Amino acid sequence: CGIIGRVGYGDAVDALVTGLENLEYRGYDSAGVAVQNGTGLAVRKQSGDVSDLEATLRHDQPTGNVGVGHTRWSTHGPPTDQNAHPHTSETDEVAVVHNGVIENHAELRDRLEATGCEFTSDTDTEVVPHLLEQHLDGRDADSVSEVADAFRATLRDLEGSFALAVLVDGVDAVFAAREGSPLVLGVGEDAYFLGSDVPAFLDWTDRVMYLEDGDVAVVAPDGLELTDQRGEPVERDVERVEWSSEDAGKGGYDHYMLKEIHSQPDALTDTLSGRVNPGDGGVAFESLPDGAFADVEQVRLVACGTSYHASLAGARLLRQAGIPAHAELASEFSLPESADDTLAVAVTQSGETADTLGAVRAAADAGAQTLAVTNVVGSTAARECDDALFIRAGPEIGVAATKTFTSQVATLSLLSRRIAADVGADAPGDAGILDGLDALPGDVRDVTTGDAARAIANRYRGSDAYFFIGRGAAHSVALEGALKFKEITYEHAEGFAAGELKHGPLALVTPDTPVFAIFTGDGDEQTLTNVEEVQSRGAPVVAVAPDGHPAVDVADDHLPIPDTVPTCASLLAAVQLQLLSYHAAELLDRAIDKPRNLAKSVTVQ
Ligand code: G6P
Repeated sequence: CGIIGRVGYGDAVDALVTGLENLEYRGYDSAGVAVQNGTGLAVRKQSGDVSDLEATLRHDQPTGNVGVGHTRWSTHGPPTDQNAHPHTSETDEVAVVHNGVIENHAELRDRLEATGCEFTSDTDTEVVPHLLEQHLDGRDADSVSEVADAFRATLRDLEGSFALAVLVDGVDAVFAAREGSPLVLGVGEDAYFLGSDVPAFLDWTDRVMYLEDGDVAVVAPDGLELTDQRGEPVERDVERVEWSSEDAGKGGYDHYMLKEIHSQPDALTDTLSGRVNPGDGGVAFESLPDGAFADVEQVRLVACGTSYHASLAGARLLRQAGIPAHAELASEFSLPESADDTLAVAVTQSGETADTLGAVRAAADAGAQTLAVTNVVGSTAARECDDALFIRAGPEIGVAATKTFTSQVATLSLLSRRIAADVGADAPGDAGILDGLDALPGDVRDVTTGDAARAIANRYRGSDAYFFIGRGAAHSVALEGALKFKEITYEHAEGFAAGELKHGPLALVTPDTPVFAIFTGDGDEQTLTNVEEVQSRGAPVVAVAPDGHPAVDVADDHLPIPDTVPTCASLLAAVQLQLLSYHAAELLDRAIDKPRNLAKSVTVQ
């Protein structure tokens, strides 16, 4: 989602709308603004994209010198007018825009409802205006410092991740806070700005202050106060950004794909947030009732392209947890006439892929229970399936899927635990996976900050073909690594199960076909044997493996990954291979974000 705020003299609304247009790549299923003009808060919000909001504002534009705006990518509740931000308290005294996930929202909502609060949306955000209104009770609600105290008290009630920007009726300021979701302050000539990202306000200023987790800002037209959540002052430097407005949507990266590769630590944090009970490792999904899978005897995952590769990983995890499961290409899917004992899972980033919708509809006709695992709330798959589970990766613009792949596999690994618990299966699944997932965002950051992939892409430039091998947890990533490489470089690339090489593909191997061998701690000894087979045919081998792994000594080159459990190691390898493909495509000057002949979402069968 995207946040914009503007605080100054003169009207804020046009700037808010321009800011929202600049942020549309962060979400576009609903949009809204709220302004303060001395006669109460004026809120305009609705489902649809920013141009729909603009059409409304053309004949009903409020005015105000202090305001906030939001463009939404749904994570709690469908894209409706009610679920659009800003959210308000019952008396309309408070208006809030929010990015992130309030993990204890259900508990807070129960508490607030018990005191008579009435909620009007399905969102986790709506607890914030109600809470703040309660904290304002008994205080001087016209005093900036009293409201700031109430705001900080509200923040201390919240668990989870948030970037918040808040208006309070009659107070000439925006109250903002950051905890786990990005928020940046822009310092303009005659106004301050707030943005979930610098592009929000780059039209007006390039002087920015990056807020840090725990920071609270009170931004008034004539000054700015920064504290922590206890009210102790903090200081942040003003920096100058050097992006052109053309680069801005890409966050200063040359391509959306590179930005999205680098955003995986944040995306994975959102994917996992609040879904694992730290006490017993139990998994709860906000959109699924307890025991939703109690009658499931087998699972069929249906998907296309990258989502199919994520499904292969998901099926493997389910089998490890003792549940019969298979991943199938949606376009090849078939079921027996009666499938009452089956859960059919449509794994689809967009939720709109025709082949996947066709397969899951056929499964429903055969009596299967259906579940969509998707990135898009309100998509066809989410609406048509019995239940929906959202991967919360945020919008993905690059045609080649990157962050949605890692978020899909992370979601499916939680789903496999959840199904196992619902059916009472006794196998716990991949040992240590919860610790591995906990460390995953940081481990991914270690990979994205390294520079090995660029050097390897350069070294093997101009090869005849590129092969990727892996077994166990690494098999699906070998296939995904090759798909990514062919999609954006247009070079010949193939992925194989490492053990299958000797049954045919070995005939293709020559000194001009580098082989990328992935080691995740799952069947590594046999994969090492396969490495020797290709080396003895003269092919150079690049080991994708942790430092100190035996494969590193044997191989010709190395793409390092942190040492962790197999499923997480496979995702870290996937990130290295995304970077490899990206740099290889960049050297060939390819249209990385929009590769020839491909579409982000294919809505024909
Ligand atoms: C298209 C895209 C692929 C994607 C596939 C499935 O072919 O180019 O990147 O993996 O569709 O998309 P979905 O939205 O169903 O995950």
